Amino acid sequence: MLLHVEGVLSPDQVAHCRTILSASDWVDGRVTAGEQSARVKNNLQAPEDAPAARELGDMILTALGQNPAFVSGVLPLRVFPPLFNRYDEGMGFGAHVDNAIRFAKTAGGPVRFRTDVSATLFLTDPADYDGGELIVEDAYGEHAIKLGAGDMIVYPAASVHRVAPITRGSRWAAFFWAQSMVRGDDQRSLLHDLDNAIQAMSVKVGQGDPAVVSLAGTYNNLLRMWADV
Ligand code: NI
Repeated sequence: MLLHVEGVLSPDQVAHCRTILSASDWVDGRVTAGEQSARVKNNLQAPEDAPAARELGDMILTALGQNPAFVSGVLPLRVFPPLFNRYDEGMGFGAHVDNAIRFAKTAGGPVRFRTDVSATLFLTDPADYDGGELIVEDAYGEHAIKLGAGDMIVYPAASVHRVAPITRGSRWAAFFWAQSMVRGDDQRSLLHDLDNAIQAMSVKVGQGDPAVVSLAGTYNNLLRMWADV
């Protein structure tokens, strides 16, 4: 499932990110790449431990926790602290699959988790650069994704994806991974569709309608069957 989450950050929050990142150091993006990815990766990243990056990462995590579309579509168990990258003219990232297991640095030491979904939160207005589409492959073909600043795309971490070379300007983004309570993309997608339908139906007939109560029960019982917490 490709999940477009609109307005994760407000225009003011995007501007704040850009101000902080403008003053950040940038290092070779291969520091967080696996062996195969490193061969095709050509971008810059804000250092993982930089206090400024951590502050922005926390702001994004807070926004995600309050975002119903993200919570419903991802059913997050653990969310990796967001990182920040930048592709200047001529930079890109060739076809790869993200590492299945990652270590997140936390106050209590590194925590190992499985990457079920990958996410890119766009921080540059699409009018300010050419190229730089995130291209995700799935059973239906290739999808080229380029969203407004503050919007986010969530896609299965298992999919082959790439970032097309930048031909003008510079593309800045936050990116991260999450482990979901529900491992399978098909199951998550079904639960998200069911949740959306229940929400829409609740508005029409009320939450207390017996059919809504029954469907909400089915949702919860499927989640109980599939969740790993
Ligand atoms: Ni990737």
